[in-house]
Formats: sequence, structure tokens, C-alpha cells
Amino acid sequence: MPAPHHGGMHFSHRFLPTARAALLALACTLPLAHAADTTAALQMQRWSDAAGAPASAERGRAFFTSRHGGEWSCASCHGNPPTTAMRHASTGKTIAPFAPMFNPERFTDTAKVDKWFRRNCKDVASRECTAAEKADMLAWLLQFHPKDKP
Ligand code: HEC
Repeated sequence: MPAPHHGGMHFSHRFLPTARAALLALACTLPLAHAADTTAALQMQRWSDAAGAPASAERGRAFFTSRHGGEWSCASCHGNPPTTAMRHASTGKTIAPFAPMFNPERFTDTAKVDKWFRRNCKDVASRECTAAEKADMLAWLLQFHPKDKP
């Protein structure tokens, strides 16, 4: 018989008040959104906890905007600054803005976050990103605010 709390997909819903407000706002504006179970800030916390060190936005910028032996950087498909819609570097499909403050759907679904980090880090760096690298990228992405729009 499976354990009652078995499985990686069940998360506590004790969100920070601001996170809860953001999720409520999201639920109101995006009725068809996928399961929102987290936030970009909580994802950054999750990985800096796993790494055991604080995140660095500067290291995140460097990782995100550099190539790692292949043809693409993360910025090839997600932009630099990562604040506007982009075209996929190979298929040409539109990719919505990446920085969470420019796209409230970003980093709100743990399964989506994990799936795409795994896939895209392998595509760009031929390996999975470390917890520290993911925390760093989130720290950088969280620095973009709409008031900084050119
Ligand atoms: C060849 C194009 C391409 C490259 C290069 C790329 N991505 Fe992506 N990425 C996508 C697409 C397509 C999606 C899924 C559609 C979407 O979410 O807009 C996505 C989604 C994601 C998501 C999900 C975000 C969310 O909304 O929860 C993460 C995380 C992500 N990418 C991280 C990265 C990282 C880190 C790199 C560099 C190591 C990278 N990507 C490079 C195309 C790319």
C-alpha cells in the first residue's frame, strides 16, 4: 500500500502572503492557466536551499547569456533582456516573455519548471543545470521590473 503522503508533486500551500496574493491575481486573470502551485521567488528559494548558498544574479546573468559549448545560450530563445516575446531559435514559434514580472505565468507550475530546466539545460549545456545555477538564473530574472522597460 502506498504511503499516504507519497509523491513529489504534493506541496504545502503555506505561501507567503505576497505569493498568495500573486496567485489569486493570476487565478483571476488567467482562468485557463495550468496548475499554479508555486512562484518564481519560491523556486529561487527552493534551489538556493538545495545549493546551500545564496543565489547570485550576476552569475545567473553570465550563465544565461553565455554559450556552453553548443550553438545556443538560454538567451537565444528567451532574450537578453528576457522581457519581451521571442522567436524560438530553431522553430520560429513565439515564446512568451521570460522574466516573471513581465509574464505572471512564469515559474508558477513546478512540473513545468522542472521539465523545461532539464530539457533546455541539456540542449544548451549538454547536462542538467545545478541547483546553484538555477537559483542564480532566478535571482537574475527576478531583477527585471516593468518600470525598467526601455
Ligand atoms: C531553442 C530554444 C530554447 C533555448 C535555447 C532555451 N529554452 Fe527554455 N524554453 C523554450 C521553450 C519552447 C519553452 C516552453 C514554452 C514556454 O514556456 O514559453 C521554454 C521554457 C523554459 C522554462 C519554463 C519556465 C516556466 O514558465 O516555468 C524554463 C525554466 C526554461 N525554459 C529554462 C531555460 C534555460 C535555463 C535555458 C538555458 C540553459 C533555456 N531555457 C534555453 C525554449 C528554449
